[in-house]
Amino acid sequence: MPVTPVLRMGDPRLWQVAREVDETKLDALPKLLEPMRATMAEYKGVGLAAPQIGVGLRVVIFGMDANPRYPEAEPVPHTVLINPKIEILTQETTNAWEGCLSVPGMRGLVPRPTHIRYRGVDENGDTIDREAKDFHARVVLHECDHLDGILYPSRIVDRTKFGFIEELETAGLIPKLEKES
Ligand code: NI
Repeated sequence: MPVTPVLRMGDPRLWQVAREVDETKLDALPKLLEPMRATMAEYKGVGLAAPQIGVGLRVVIFGMDANPRYPEAEPVPHTVLINPKIEILTQETTNAWEGCLSVPGMRGLVPRPTHIRYRGVDENGDTIDREAKDFHARVVLHECDHLDGILYPSRIVDRTKFGFIEELETAGLIPKLEKES
């Protein structure tokens, strides 16, 4: 399976707004999805957005199985989401540590809304319309941010809660074994 290098922060392509996919031409998508899936699996991410492999289209993939190591993180359905639209359903936000395959080796504490609705289509053109909370919502918001050229460091409010994994672990700020997306 073709693993593709993930663009890292600093590459101007990560700051661009991705284009809508023509939903009448989804036949071409497997060519994009295959390297995305392979790359996400290789890096053990919970999500990946097309711009992260240099493709400026509004396509994200995400998903995480139940993992006894993360009992507090509910499983996230394995999803291909095209042309996503997000609605925020609450004023409430929570802070959690995020990582990103485009910002390797680092973590930051990011506030996100805890309850959203997201809509779009999958690779077959079938409608996706779901509500998501907490971790699931966070994953979707993080990935969809990539489509608008937003990386999580731009969302950090408390700049002292951003740094290299090793230093944050040593400082006791983050637990070990986090996931990237
Ligand atoms: Ni990311």
